[in-house]
Amino acid sequence: MTDPVTRWRERAGGAVLLDGFHALKHALRFGAEVPVAVTTDRRAALALAAELAGDVRDTLDALLTEVPEETYASLVPRPHPTGVAALAVRPSREANLRALAHTPRTAPVVVLDHPRNLGNAGAVIRLAAGFGATGVVTTGTLDPWHPTVVRGGAGLHFATAVERLEVEELPAGPLFALDPEGEDIRGTKLPDDAVLAFGSERSGLSADLRARADHLLALPMRPQVSSYNLATSVAMTLYHWSAAGGAPTAS
Ligand SMILES: C[S@@+](CC[C@H](N)C(=O)[O-])C[C@H]1O[C@@H](n2cnc3c(N)ncnc32)[C@H](O)[C@@H]1O
Repeated sequence: MTDPVTRWRERAGGAVLLDGFHALKHALRFGAEVPVAVTTDRRAALALAAELAGDVRDTLDALLTEVPEETYASLVPRPHPTGVAALAVRPSREANLRALAHTPRTAPVVVLDHPRNLGNAGAVIRLAAGFGATGVVTTGTLDPWHPTVVRGGAGLHFATAVERLEVEELPAGPLFALDPEGEDIRGTKLPDDAVLAFGSERSGLSADLRARADHLLALPMRPQVSSYNLATSVAMTLYHWSAAGGAPTAS
């Protein structure tokens, strides 16, 4: 077998960087294909696995190769405190589109309409994974698989379908767009096949998205406050959906 650094360099082009132990742990749990994983301290990484991730400990044991600190530092943009990094195969667009189109849908799709902040997008993917949402779709130019988004998502891109689409390509289902000018969300039960859309941090919902929306919903907010942060708006909305019984139970 070729050495891990050669394998890394061969794969790095189209692959997803899993930065740190927790991103690798999550990706493995949710079925990511991981061709190469390195660590600066195999014993410490496996001890962390035994403590926090017994379910993937044996997989990590088989995957992780120890490399010198300098080698590790040459493979990643900036070293992670856990000294672990891996490359995963990005799921195909076809597979994501299939997952997004699958009916009957048992959990909503989250749409971020022209998001701008990579950290917000990562936080939303993490939320979607936690609530068992069907997927996270973005419109506009932000790449939801950008390394900074993947870092913010803690490896949970593999737990939901993450794809960029045009407004005209959004999955079928009743579209609820979140906007401070909408009807109070507390009067609405969100169905499991809902498409939940959120506007950009700077300018809110686009005209195209508004035109497609079946309902405009507002989160409770005092009059003097203009808006909430995008990711926290998604959190409140998914929680509102979950409170009616659709989401996975807490462990
Ligand atoms: C930071 S806000 C956008 C603020 C933007 N300046 C605007 O003009 O709407 C980002 C998104 O979060 C959601 N959002 C924020 N506060 C909300 C609220 N009180 N009710 C419903 N949606 C909200 C909306 O989808 C909004 O487009």
